[in-house]
Amino acid sequence: MKTLIKNALVFDPRNNLNNKNDILIEGKSIVEINENIKDQGYQVIDAADKVVIPALIDMHVHLREPGYEEKETVKTGCEAAAAGGFSAVAAMPNTNPVADNPAVVEHLHLKSKEALVKVYPIGSITKGSEGKKLSEIGTLANTGVKALSDDGQPVMDSEIMRRAMEYASAFNLPIIDHCEDKNLSKDGVMHEGYYSTIFGLHGIPAASEEVMVARDIVLAEMTGIHLHIAHLSTEGSLKLVKDAQNRGVNVTFEVTPHHLLLTDKEIEDYNPDTKVHPPLRSNRDVEVLQMALENGEIDVIATDHAPHTYEDKLGEFDYAANGISGLETALGLLHNYFIKDEKISWNDLIEMYYYKPAEILQVEAEGIKQGAAADLIVFNPAREWKVEKNKFKSKGKNTPFAGTILKGKNEITFVEGKMVYDDRGGKNEILY
Ligand code: DOR
Ligand code: ZN
Repeated sequence: MKTLIKNALVFDPRNNLNNKNDILIEGKSIVEINENIKDQGYQVIDAADKVVIPALIDMHVHLREPGYEEKETVKTGCEAAAAGGFSAVAAMPNTNPVADNPAVVEHLHLKSKEALVKVYPIGSITKGSEGKKLSEIGTLANTGVKALSDDGQPVMDSEIMRRAMEYASAFNLPIIDHCEDKNLSKDGVMHEGYYSTIFGLHGIPAASEEVMVARDIVLAEMTGIHLHIAHLSTEGSLKLVKDAQNRGVNVTFEVTPHHLLLTDKEIEDYNPDTKVHPPLRSNRDVEVLQMALENGEIDVIATDHAPHTYEDKLGEFDYAANGISGLETALGLLHNYFIKDEKISWNDLIEMYYYKPAEILQVEAEGIKQGAAADLIVFNPAREWKVEKNKFKSKGKNTPFAGTILKGKNEITFVEGKMVYDDRGGKNEILY
């Protein structure tokens, strides 16, 4: 059956689309894009006043399988991704066992076959992400990992990081870097500053991140590797990366929606859903990141979707797990706070949340054009909705945005021509 999307405002900067168009989908592909395609008995989707863009690619997601299926599975994580407007996610290796060998990656490949969105595996840098011995980087590369990362943990030993970079560059893999100096963050649970003093909680200084960003830029320069800084959160880190980029170092970075929108003051109720690594930072850091976003200086947006169970987040702030379940709020937040008020454009978003991540992972992203895979979403910019965590497809209900009213919602996700999510009229339905 052919599907015809009628009268949508279609955006795709690399295919020169920024006007009203109809899109015809047949099988897995887009077969025609034109201003007026005649309905010849197709399944028609009326998209007047709706926006159509390429479905997003989130390059930083924790799917938790194998080992932590109580937090998330490949199935539920991919359902959350479909609902959030994504057609692909990259899966972090801090599972149990860690994806430090081909068997775990093969397992993920197998699980992903039945999943609703594409899953790109990431292998760990070191065995068990313990920072001591390198993973089987060559064999990991052969099983199709798209990057290497010990995310959740830093690689504290500089010599090991250097060797990892040398191997990674031999296999043409980027390193996605969790930048943290454990000696500086110690037993900290929130950003070190005015509010950590007021709230009586141990702080994690900005320097804990920045020291490692600086070190790994130096090592990247030395080894020539592509270094991608995960969840960059401070003004100092941004300066270091920008300076390195200006020198021509092959370094990119991502920022999460929560680091763009929430400050450390948010922790005042000791709500464990505000506890995340790196921590929510100062007002100044958030302002600087927002400025960078508006000036087109941010390479990638990624959620760091980190689902946890209710029990993991229960109890005292000091002992709660780190992480935010982000896939189902990211696009709504970005629209409500930045796109709606024209602080960034749809085209900016598509660059940061589709083309750049695909380039870094070296995966296909043809966008919206004739013959390309029909990976796209229909977004309703006028629709107001409330973030209700119990409606999340993700098992992780840990969001600091619960109860927030947002304007703009993803209503349909297509992955390879198949409608996998339908929220027209508030259906919130996953389709297999
Ligand atoms: O908040 C976080 N949660 N930060 C990380 O780096 C890891 C992640 C997790 O795996 O839960
Ligand atoms: Zn992460």
